[in-house]
This record gives sequence, C-alpha cells and structure tokens, in this order.
Amino acid sequence: MQLSDKKVTLSLSDGGQAVELPVYSGTVGPDVIDIRKLYGGTGMFTYDPGFMATASTESAITYIDGDKGELLYRGYPIEQLAQQRNFLDVCYLLLNGDLPDAEQLTEFDALVTNHTMVHEQMYAFMQGFRRDAHPMAVLTGLVGALSAFYHDSTDIANAKDRRTSAIRIIAKMPTLVAMAYKYSLGQPNIYPRNELSYTGNFLRMMFATPTEDYHVNEVVERALDRIFILHADHEQNASTSTVRLCGSSGTSPFAAIAAGIACLWGPAHGGANEAALQMLEQLQAQGGVEKVGAFMEQVKDKTSGVRLMGFGHRVYKNYDPRARLMQETCKEVLQALGLENDPLFKLAMELERIALEDDYFVERKLYPNVDFYSGIVQRAIGIPTSMFTAIFALARTVGWIAQWDEMLTDPNYKIGRPRQLYVGAQRRDVPAER
Ligand code: ACO
Repeated sequence: MQLSDKKVTLSLSDGGQAVELPVYSGTVGPDVIDIRKLYGGTGMFTYDPGFMATASTESAITYIDGDKGELLYRGYPIEQLAQQRNFLDVCYLLLNGDLPDAEQLTEFDALVTNHTMVHEQMYAFMQGFRRDAHPMAVLTGLVGALSAFYHDSTDIANAKDRRTSAIRIIAKMPTLVAMAYKYSLGQPNIYPRNELSYTGNFLRMMFATPTEDYHVNEVVERALDRIFILHADHEQNASTSTVRLCGSSGTSPFAAIAAGIACLWGPAHGGANEAALQMLEQLQAQGGVEKVGAFMEQVKDKTSGVRLMGFGHRVYKNYDPRARLMQETCKEVLQALGLENDPLFKLAMELERIALEDDYFVERKLYPNVDFYSGIVQRAIGIPTSMFTAIFALARTVGWIAQWDEMLTDPNYKIGRPRQLYVGAQRRDVPAER
C-alpha cells in the first residue's frame, strides 16, 4: 500500500487535541484511513459491527467493485477466467499471483494429483458420524482432523511447509467431500483416480460405485469446473475473514480451514445455495410461477421473516458477475442434459424478472448472487441439495489457503483481536449472602 498525500484530521468536540491520521491508497478501489494510532491519541476505539466500513487487511489476491459488478482474481476478470481457463489454472493463479504457462500447469497438476489420497485412518474417523449428519458437519470434522495427520509440514513460518499444506488441502478436498457424500448414502468409498482431471476425478468419486464405473460427461465436467472457478475466492468475506482470524493465532492451516468451513455453512453465506434451491422447490410445490406474486409480497413484508434466498449481497450493489455466468452455465447444462423445460429454472427466471422490476429490490440494489442459479446446475448434474455448500467449500479452499498464506507473509501481520464497546454492569461486589 502507498501513503497518500491526503490526510484525515479528527477533531473532537470536547476540545481534546485533534488527531491526524494517514491515508493509504491501493492499486484500485477506495483509500483507507489508518486508525492504528487512534486509541493512543484519543483513548477511543472505532465502532463498526459487521465491518461495514473497515478494511481488515491489505491483499493482492481478489478485487471486487460492487457498484460496477466486477470481480478480478489477481487482476484477471472472472468472465475471462471462467471462459478460457480451468480450475487448476485458477488455483495456481490465486496461490502464485500469475497464470501458469503450459509446463507450469502440467507440473502443478501432477503435484496436486499426487496428494489426492487421504490417510486410510480418515475413513475410520468418519465412521464416528451418524449417517444422517449434515455433510458440512462431517466436512468440518474431517478437515479439522487433517491437522492430526501431517506432522512433516507444521512450521507455518516456513514457505515450503506452507505450500505443502496448501497443495494437500486443495488435493484432498474433493476426496473428503465425496467421502462425506458416500457415507451419507451408505455406499463404499471410491478412491481417487489420477488419470482424471481434478473435476472429473471428483465426479467419479461422487457417482461411481464398485459395481458400475462412472464415465465423465464433458459438459457436466466443464459446468462443475466453472462452478469451482466462480467460487474460488471472494476477498474478505465472512469465511475468509474467519480463516484469517483463526490462522492469525498461528494454528494449523487445516484447523483454520475447518473454521472457514464452519462459517461458510450458515444460510447468510455459503448455505444460501441450499436455502435458495429449497425455496424454489417449496414454491414449485405450492403452485410454481403462478404463486410468484404472492411469494414476493411475503418477501417484502418484513414481519414474515422470508427473504429471497440467492438475492442481495453486502458488496455487490449491481448484478453479481458470477450469477450471470452461472445463469449461462445453467442454460448450457440443462440443454445438454435435455432438461430445457426444467420448472425450477423457469421459476428462478421469473422470480429474477419480477424482482429486477420491483421498487423494493431496485431501491435496495438487490440482484441475484452466485447462489441463485448454482443450485439448479448442481441439481441437474445429480448433486443433492445437502451437498451444495460442501461443493462451495471445496472450491473456496484455494482462496482460503491463499489468503492464509498471504497473511502470514504480511509484515503488518498480527494476531486478530478486535476491541469492544462495553455496555455491561460496572464493577460491583458479590453480595456476602445469597
Ligand atoms: N430478500 C429480501 N430483502 C432483502 C434481501 C433478500 N434476499 N437481502 C437484503 N434485503 C433487504 C433487507 O431486509 C434490508 O432492507 P431494509 O433496508 O429495509 O432493512 C436491505 O435489503 C439491506 O439488507 P441487509 O441484510 O442489511 O444487507 P447485508 O449486507 O447485511 O446482507 C446478505 C447481505 C446477508 C447477503 C442479504 O442480502 C441476504 O440475507 N441475502 C439472502 C441470503 C443470500 O443469498 N446469501 C448469499 C450471499 S453471497 C455468498 O455468501 C456466496
């Protein structure tokens, strides 16, 4: 970051001494006011629940312009990456800062492929879960447990160890997600096959059985790969900030990623894809397109507690570029699988059309987010609703680990420790008698 010519002077109405605060500029996007000396100069903290106006870090990985509806990974527009590259290219980009050339990609692919197996003991560990456990509960446990398995690369101050952990977690996530799925079905686990692509291998581990192999359909493979690309990183969102905060204590990277998975699970974040599809299914069961008007009235009624899931975003005040790409993918997949008349897709399109014309949504700048269409694509390719957020976690793992790595090499890195405005009881004595 660069010190700007601008300065901010904070004057206090009680006559206390004014404080001058430096301003820093990034390469693009809003400047930041450096308030680190504020407490020392005024004895006051800043107050910003939900981090509405607080930059928690500097970062060179992902940039979002919420007003324009723009998303860049390491400077490259998401549209170009989604159309021209595959997920492993994007993983390499997020970890290293630049896209790989052909040789670098082959090397990276081989490296990831070599780490796809998990310790056999992980399968025994999984047996402790109930079969009806939510896959995100299982995944949180499995990823946390990885920290108990790899004792050869635990030095987080060592770049080589950090990279080994990064490759391991990226490589093993598809295996773990597929394990969680197979366990829920009561089917035997399918081991990874290294001759397949990253995404093809995942599909096979999900859908093959010992009695019948799974032949990867290229359209499905490409669609899922695109889903992975679109979810790979999204700057300082709730789960990424969780990974950073958890990792800031110096804990194991696997433990930090497990914390990120736990955060992602919530319906206001990654859990929205599952919630969005459930919403569409319920609406379809109640009458479908004909009931859209009445449903929208419920959504706009603040006392109903109903939200249009897959709509709205803290940062995007324009169309989420990922939602646009997802809608396109949705059309392609449904067509390729002969499901052009999918009623849920029609319903989603109708909800979007009505919302984008409705003052309630227009005034609040609420647009479809990535979760609005991703569930329809996943459902079409055979992924059950309960697995949607686990797929999101698989894809976001590279972003989490790249952000964790960036944090540990940041010269300003400190353990994360927010302050508070205390509103509880003042000091008082415990009564001598009950
Ligand atoms: N349906 C109906 N109204 C909404 C919606 C929605 N989906 N989203 C926001 N609003 C309304 C709010 O009621 C509020 O109205 P008000 O100003 O009259 O009180 C206004 O829009 C602003 O909403 P906030 O909740 O204050 O915005 P915030 O930035 O805190 O929340 C969030 C963003 C959580 C994504 C929200 O839009 C939401 O709940 N969306 C549905 C869940 C969802 O799709 N989450 C996925 C996000 S993307 C991701 O994590 C991958």
